[in-house]
Amino acid sequence: MADLKGCIIGIDAGTASVKGLLVDASGTIVATASVPIQLSTPHPGWAEQSPEDWWKATIQVLDTLTVDRNFQILAVSISGQMHSLVPLDADDNVVRPAILWCDQRTQQECVVLTEACGGEQEVIKAFGNPVLTGFTAPKLLWLRANEPDNFARIARFCLPKDYLVLELTGRLAIEASDASGTSLYRVREGVWDDHILDVLTVRRSMLPDLVGVGSVIGAITCPDLPQLHGVPVVAGGADNAASAFGCGVEEPGDAVVSLGTCGTVVAVTSTPYPDLTGRVHLFSLVTKDCYYHMAVILSAAGALDWFRQRFAQNLTFGHIEEMVGQSPVGSNGVVFLPYLNGERTPHRDPDARGVLYGMSSFNSQGDILRAVHEGVIFALREGAECITDMGTPITSVRVVGGGSRSRIWCQMLADNLGTPIRSPLVDEGAAYGSARLAANAVGLDTSRWVKLVEQYDPDALRRSQYDPWFAQYKALYRVLKEQFTNTRRLVEQPN
Ligand code: XUL
Repeated sequence: MADLKGCIIGIDAGTASVKGLLVDASGTIVATASVPIQLSTPHPGWAEQSPEDWWKATIQVLDTLTVDRNFQILAVSISGQMHSLVPLDADDNVVRPAILWCDQRTQQECVVLTEACGGEQEVIKAFGNPVLTGFTAPKLLWLRANEPDNFARIARFCLPKDYLVLELTGRLAIEASDASGTSLYRVREGVWDDHILDVLTVRRSMLPDLVGVGSVIGAITCPDLPQLHGVPVVAGGADNAASAFGCGVEEPGDAVVSLGTCGTVVAVTSTPYPDLTGRVHLFSLVTKDCYYHMAVILSAAGALDWFRQRFAQNLTFGHIEEMVGQSPVGSNGVVFLPYLNGERTPHRDPDARGVLYGMSSFNSQGDILRAVHEGVIFALREGAECITDMGTPITSVRVVGGGSRSRIWCQMLADNLGTPIRSPLVDEGAAYGSARLAANAVGLDTSRWVKLVEQYDPDALRRSQYDPWFAQYKALYRVLKEQFTNTRRLVEQPN
């Protein structure tokens, strides 16, 4: 029998899909598979998924990736959406659907937990972040208050990728990058926080084992995947951390901007101080004892998709690029605030809303489209400034996500950040980062996996032209802040 080619599998359990990559030892993608996942919204602002759906999708993805038996699978690793709570009973059955990172039901619980832990400053010092509605701890408190029977049945709980690893190996484990987003874990000390566990009446035995980044959690034993029996499963990471690793963001100064549905700026930091104003997250990377600061904007490429679907359906992305290129910096006076889903960094304001400001009868469709692009870039620039204000440098930037296919958008980003921007040859997000982690764990050298292709250099003149429009963008939120809250009240009021 001919020698089988050694490959690894990286999986990302995302919100829209479970995606998997079969990757060879040189980092080349041999096969991909993806299965969409339904999201349910039982009430406005709630977001749930069925962990069983993730598991079925994972089996399907692994089956697809292993159809061709000419490969020997050396290891599998899984990364996933952060913060989402998977409650399990004493037999490791799922107690109720997972409550997701984007679910907004726990505002009250965040206040209660923050007070019980000594106020926001103390919370940020302990956990590296405020307790936010999307995070895990307030979801447990919500279940205790609102679904006491379900809460009483919880024997253990975990995050999405950990549930999938449990199904694969029989072992429940978590590593630092995902533990960081639970509000149960002291990020800088790398330990669970007993005080908040007491407040929640959660026993330590209910937590997954805390394992080292990139360590082997166990071997695949589940009967549904006989072809993978005995293959080691390597601890993956939180999607943002795994995705950073997948595009080579590892050293202080390195950063990656994601122009996905939402947008993030992830910057490696050697000074893991928390942001006491709570605007920027501090989480662990998937490399040992390394951390990142992260700004999150809730509508990035999603804002352009929304605009196109509602107002410019007839335009291809090629047309849009052309029209944006014909409008000058500042979009002939039109400014867009991309707060279609509220905003996290820097405002932490669920009431914030999208604004198209400054239109006159002179403006063209191209001006409006350019304003949408500029507004998203200004939001990312403001997020990046929050990070550099913390003393974390941003000198080498990668750009990833669907929006990074737009050359004009990448150039705007380079001009506004004032640093060169590069895009990786492989833009497969966290799944590729997981594959890299798995490969490292089985002794492969992945230092040459990440290849950078495009480069966008900042233009100093254009940056100086953007500056007054960026100032205008920031001023608009300050002026409108109170009105956003008034508008929410009006919308909520029955007529
Ligand atoms: C990070 C966050 C999201 C999820 C998406 O804090 O909430 O990026 O990780 O999967």
